[in-house]
Amino acid sequence: MATARQPALLSPAATLREQRQCAPELLDSLPAESRDAVRSRRDLRRLNALMGNFAWFERTLRGRVGAPEKILELGAGTGELGLRLARRGFTVAAIDRAPRPRHWPASAEWHAREIEAFDRWADYPIVIGNLIFHHFDAARLRVLGQQLDAHARLILAAEPRRNFTSNLLFTFAATLIGANHVTRHDGRVSIDAGFHGDELAVALGLSPARWRWSAQPTLRGGYRLIAERKS
Ligand SMILES: C[S@@+](CC[C@H](N)C(=O)[O-])C[C@H]1O[C@@H](n2cnc3c(N)ncnc32)[C@H](O)[C@@H]1O
Repeated sequence: MATARQPALLSPAATLREQRQCAPELLDSLPAESRDAVRSRRDLRRLNALMGNFAWFERTLRGRVGAPEKILELGAGTGELGLRLARRGFTVAAIDRAPRPRHWPASAEWHAREIEAFDRWADYPIVIGNLIFHHFDAARLRVLGQQLDAHARLILAAEPRRNFTSNLLFTFAATLIGANHVTRHDGRVSIDAGFHGDELAVALGLSPARWRWSAQPTLRGGYRLIAERKS
């Protein structure tokens, strides 16, 4: 039974478990080659390494995906995850509003555009995203989910977990790696827009009748979703 909220009595942890809050991230509006942006992308690489995200994608895809099956990475950024997967023999494509990175494999597609404007979902049975789904509010997640529901058979997401512990861990990690002010700001914003429980699958509108999923927190402040279409 729902109980009435009493904001004055809520602990910080309880406050963080309330609704997601999506707000603009600084990195999205900085010139790509600005010192702050370059430094923040370096921070992001280090945070991904600390969170073990890339290794998780590789592990999870292996055994679930055959080499010829096409994987689309949403919000691929500098392309490092996709590049790693391509080197391990996966067939990877990427979409990001950022231009194709210089090191992106010549044989792999890079769609430099808004995810919302993408129209080739039917080409990609596997859709993955590292630190991208939290950029989308509920309405945009629902629209994205309609495309995934129609065309994908496997969806993997690694996102921030929205809770107090994640905030503490992020503060610690940011200090450890010497994160700049952009990363510190964007990290906090990302956690506020992060997920817990079944939130992401539900926000995408995945039906338990057609999909089975597992959504797990990680010890390092992460949230990981594996959603597979029931055959
Ligand atoms: C936090 S970064 C993560 C980058 C990469 N996945 C990683 O983990 O290093 C988010 C990326 O998503 C891209 N992005 C955010 N919203 C987007 C949208 N609506 N359409 C296309 N790209 C988007 C940004 O350009 C950025 O490269």
